Amino acid sequence: MSSNSTIRSICCIGAGYVGGPTMAVIADRCPDVKVTVVDINQDRIAAWNHPDLSKLPVYEPGLDAVVERARGRNLFFSTAVEETIASADMVFISVNTPTKTRGLGAGQASDLRWVEACARTVAKEATGHTIVVEKSTLPVRTAEAVKAILGSVDSSSEQKTFSVLSNPEFLAEGTAIRDLANPDRVLIGGENAEAIDALAEIYQQWVPEEKILRTNLWSSELSKLTANAFLAQRISSINSVAALCEATGADVREVAKAIGTDSRIGPKFLNAGPGFGGSCFQKDILNLVYLCRHFGLPDVADYWESVVLLNTWQQHRIARLVVQKLFGTVTGKRLAILGFAFKADTNDTREAPAIRICKDLLEEGAQLAIHDPKVDPEQISRDLNLIASQAPEEDAGPTRGALSGEATWWPSPDVASAIRGADAVLILTEWQQYRELDWSTLAPLMRKPAWVFDARGVVDPKQVESGGLNVWRVGEGDA
Ligand code: NAD
Ligand code: UGA
Repeated sequence: MSSNSTIRSICCIGAGYVGGPTMAVIADRCPDVKVTVVDINQDRIAAWNHPDLSKLPVYEPGLDAVVERARGRNLFFSTAVEETIASADMVFISVNTPTKTRGLGAGQASDLRWVEACARTVAKEATGHTIVVEKSTLPVRTAEAVKAILGSVDSSSEQKTFSVLSNPEFLAEGTAIRDLANPDRVLIGGENAEAIDALAEIYQQWVPEEKILRTNLWSSELSKLTANAFLAQRISSINSVAALCEATGADVREVAKAIGTDSRIGPKFLNAGPGFGGSCFQKDILNLVYLCRHFGLPDVADYWESVVLLNTWQQHRIARLVVQKLFGTVTGKRLAILGFAFKADTNDTREAPAIRICKDLLEEGAQLAIHDPKVDPEQISRDLNLIASQAPEEDAGPTRGALSGEATWWPSPDVASAIRGADAVLILTEWQQYRELDWSTLAPLMRKPAWVFDARGVVDPKQVESGGLNVWRVGEGDA
């Protein structure tokens, strides 16, 4: 950071998936700015301060190196929320904004209780002029509420002033450090040009000026929801076409390539699969749907809601299709599930497609042997609301009694033990190791006739078929 910079001290409220990595990169790139990340969660702060960098609370490739360079120099993690706010020139609000589970807007609107609590604490504790930056993903016009709370402070005895900016985050899990170091753009929305420049100056330390976009507050807030809605819409679009490909003999990978080479469409985000998961796409689209209805635009709301409905349909469709191919019943059958995380290179299972697909199959009485290289089995138990059972003995035979329909699952330490005795394999996450499986050694372990259901399009169908297995690949019809 150049010495004439306006900002000397930053406080970020929320040491989560966004606050931690984002502030680590800012501190790394701006060594003259003191950056303190605060959180009410003591365990999380302790983990950020852990001397063993493998114990950081967020796993992201490259994050440990960034934290190692900056921590203790100008990057700090603390539970001292009030004191840190009081001494900061700029406060980022980077707290969780999940979907409301009760009351007005339940199931769609964002729960803003944590954002409001932050605004109230900032109003009380800040001193002098403070720039408040919305980093959380928020409904359009939230800055109005933030400004009203900040404006309500009794400033007669002390000089307190505020500027509010919107600066949403576009990083994706698994590539967060790369996305932060080399963003497609940085978006800053606001009304006060000096405050916008002060934040832009921070990013200018490593982001080219032409990539820093300045807009009004509402455009910035709405752009974040819109970006996620457009990305998710592409996935629902390609998944809808995948189903049509299967019905007509087309291949969705060929169609994706054919349309993606049109520079107006572009090749990214056209992988058909088991539907999108992750903590944000569904939450943010449902929030958009809620806002549209709130602003009297029910047809626009229906349009965006269909993106989520199609996604849910795709997941149920895959589970149904498995049952149909296995002679209409999976009761008592062993199925191997390869991959539980919502995407590769993360252990995050929030809204993972595997959850809905596994629940549907358990409902049909299946026995699931689940393998994932990174996901903790206890997390799978929580996601499925079902405690894991002991893996059956290796020589227990392909169907262990279980025609009673009692569903069960167990974690498998490796792919071969998941597949042994199974009637079918479902690939639900695109882990690199699943692309490299040797089907000539795996195929003999299965009970015939056996199926491989490749929901991520990662196997070579010829290789699988040569092992005597049937293959279904998402979006591939019989030519
Ligand atoms: P998170 O749940 O991982 O972290 C939020 C943190 O805020 C928690 O540690 C919580 O203890 C803390 N917190 C809540 N209220 C507090 C308060 N009053 N004072 C101090 N700390 C408080 O959430 P996240 O994944 O970092 O997401 C944060 C925001 O960023 C959300 O709005 C999300 O939609 C958005 N976002 C997330 C991603 C992502 O990939 N996770 C990407 C872009 C944007
Ligand atoms: C997404 C966006 O990509 C980020 O820009 C955004 O900041 C973030 O949400 C957020 O607001 O939280 P993320 O959910 O981490 O990031 O991961 P993505 O790579 O977008 O994948 C989301 C889901 O879509 C995954 O389940 C993935 O498997 C699926 N997907 C993605 C497909 O099925 N096909 C594709 O072609 C791409």
